[in-house]
Amino acid sequence: MSELESLEALESEAREAIAGADGVQQLVEVRARYLGRKGSVAAYLRGVGKLAPEARGPAGQAANAAKQRIEDWVAARRAELERDATGRSLAEHRYDTSLPGAGAPHGRLHPLTWVLRDAVEFFSALGFSVEEGPEVETDWNNFGALNFPDDHPARDVQDTFFVEGGHVLRTHTSPVQVRTMTGRTPPFRFIAPGRVYRYDNDATHAPMFHQVEGFLVDDRTTFADLKGVLYAFARHMFGADTELRFRAHFFPFTEPSAEIDFSWPGGWLEWGGCGMIHPHVLANCGIDPDRWQGWAFGMGLDRTAMQRFGIPHIRHLFEGDVRVLEQV
Ligand code: DAH
Repeated sequence: MSELESLEALESEAREAIAGADGVQQLVEVRARYLGRKGSVAAYLRGVGKLAPEARGPAGQAANAAKQRIEDWVAARRAELERDATGRSLAEHRYDTSLPGAGAPHGRLHPLTWVLRDAVEFFSALGFSVEEGPEVETDWNNFGALNFPDDHPARDVQDTFFVEGGHVLRTHTSPVQVRTMTGRTPPFRFIAPGRVYRYDNDATHAPMFHQVEGFLVDDRTTFADLKGVLYAFARHMFGADTELRFRAHFFPFTEPSAEIDFSWPGGWLEWGGCGMIHPHVLANCGIDPDRWQGWAFGMGLDRTAMQRFGIPHIRHLFEGDVRVLEQV
């Protein structure tokens, strides 16, 4: 057998062994057997060194070409084996695209934020601007300018949180009326949403809660306008068939005054108060009560959210329980 013939035999033997390798590890061993330093091709090349000088060149070239072909078959078989392994693994860990997804949790608006935005949107459409005031108020803005007599029960420590320097945590948003009206010339209309504080705690009262104040001053406006606006507001917030109940009431800063209720499981729940702005309040803010008149209201925003979303206890609004927040 000539040298070239024995190379051909070696090559075809290697080809079969490569095709027969059925794992990457086995393939690595086959490759070492033929191409390794102690492998068959290396042994063949050592034999070439012993040939007659003129025969060495062609025999060496043939050996190198054979080596390259074997290398290519190994690479091709390796790719094949790896592809098969991937296919088997995919088949084992089958991905069922028809299963429902896991779902990513996402945030949403707090019920109060929701009703607040809705209220602002409603009143903006009626031409009201939004005003804000501080939560720590002067006695004058919270009580005095609003026509509370010095001995009014709301000034009692039982209802009001007093802070240093004779200031109070505002007990309602009505002081924003005073801040806003003072130094302004009517006509104007504003709403003032915000946090308020009172010494209270049960299912429908929390020591901190939210109100939205609204007030309008013009040269001719009536209690009927006020009722119409509050009905439209209620129907916007709660639905077209909402009924309200207006009960005659007393507030120092309005005359006449009313409390407004909406229906609630087992009866009615107070939503807020309203009335025609008392002439003393206008005068306290530098507005001539003989020339201008106005109306005002203050509604509980927490109760608005409770009614809107069916939340039975005011505390649920402040606990951050995801089960409550998810219902909005
Ligand atoms: N400030 C009152 C309260 O907190 C609510 C209120 C009643 C506001 C009548 C008003 C009003 O503006 O006119 O109970």
